[in-house]
Amino acid sequence: MSSHGDPIPMTSRKGGPLKGEALVPGDKSISHRSLILGAMAVGETRISGLLEGDDVLDTGRAMEAFGAEVINHGGGEWSVHGVGVGGFSEPDQVIDCGNSGTGVRLIMGAVATSDMTVTFTGDASLNSRPMGRVTDPLALFGTQSVGRTGGRLPMTLVGAAAPVPVRYVVPVPSAQVKSAVLLAGLNAPGQTVVIEQEATRDHTERMLVGFGAELTVEETDEGRVITLTGQPELQPQTIAVPRDPSSAAFPVCAALLSEGSDVLVPNIGLNPTRAGLFYTLQEMGADLTFENMREEGGEPVADLRARYSPDMKGIEVPPARAASMIDEYPVLSVVAAFAEGQTVMRGVKELRVKESDRIDAMAQGLRAAGVEVDEGEDWWIVTGRGFGHVPGGVTVESRLDHRIAMSFMVMGLATEAPMTVDDGGPITTSFPIFEPLMTGLGAAILRANR
Ligand code: S3P
Repeated sequence: MSSHGDPIPMTSRKGGPLKGEALVPGDKSISHRSLILGAMAVGETRISGLLEGDDVLDTGRAMEAFGAEVINHGGGEWSVHGVGVGGFSEPDQVIDCGNSGTGVRLIMGAVATSDMTVTFTGDASLNSRPMGRVTDPLALFGTQSVGRTGGRLPMTLVGAAAPVPVRYVVPVPSAQVKSAVLLAGLNAPGQTVVIEQEATRDHTERMLVGFGAELTVEETDEGRVITLTGQPELQPQTIAVPRDPSSAAFPVCAALLSEGSDVLVPNIGLNPTRAGLFYTLQEMGADLTFENMREEGGEPVADLRARYSPDMKGIEVPPARAASMIDEYPVLSVVAAFAEGQTVMRGVKELRVKESDRIDAMAQGLRAAGVEVDEGEDWWIVTGRGFGHVPGGVTVESRLDHRIAMSFMVMGLATEAPMTVDDGGPITTSFPIFEPLMTGLGAAILRANR
């Protein structure tokens, strides 16, 4: 079942080359944060290029339930009239975050230090994911929570009426956990300190500074030490959301795998905490170049040019790079299937608790399509078969996971026989224009029942 309706089976097959420009939607991580921080500022935040995918729209609805006004002006232009830090009011309804782990975890943080009781739920995928990683640190502020067994949604949070600031060492590499603690720290007096041993995406830190919070980051032997001074008055901002490197990954990899392709993916954020896939592909021998490198809104940005690359080799992906490409391993495993030799991916335990267990979902689909995959709890190895040698010809499960669905649709563009996913519906959570964008480039992707 797709998260928002009946299943939508989709098929992709080998076809002509992919050519042209791929204008992928706005960054999902930055879009969530724009709405949440906009709601916590005093006055009107203007946002252009917002990702209008289901995940982000659910976060927008949640901000309205807490008292902010969220207005869609059309064409990706939005505004949020914020109520200020500590200004949220208790919603009279359950907050449904749909499929979005980022949405629910960040919002839990944002409300944890307000004197109110809030119940959260989501779809079957989200309701199976662990929330203890967020509620454990929030308890240090004085927040109480009751959920289902294993710390799962639906879950009710009782915000701390008299929060105390915390010092927290994040035990897993997770930007969602780090961000939840920082957002909770906004409404606590004094300094909240978050320490991460491995750097994860730093959009929350950058944006908090942009909104006028007092926040410092220090690299120490302990790790990245982030210190936030609580109870600021956040200033509304004008935000231009950059295009999403995690969405760019799909047309880029599709171009590398489709004979004769040459695709330009303009304006992609290359924040070092997000760009790991592109460096990995270059090391594998992909014809992938960064053109027109520049800086926009304090972030490195480039146009990516990807051309058909039939001579890629498997590599050992450095585990230290994992956090900077955590959402891209599914599509990397597809590219690896067409490379020569083994692609070894270690230090990726977090993949097991994403929208699906992504190692298991990809391994099962790849094996069904004729590709050898070995796996352990925090590693997997794909043995490439080289171009022209990957059979395909199977239907695989997308498991309510947008990136699994899109990865197998990219795979089918290069397998000998077409690939089908049982449900492409979840794609709308992060990349609502995936189908028209890919077919516009020349990819043979279609709804299987048409
Ligand atoms: C995200 C953080 C990552 C990532 C997710 C978006 C964010 O999750 O997988 O798609 O916006 O903070 P984790 O924090 O669980 O690694």
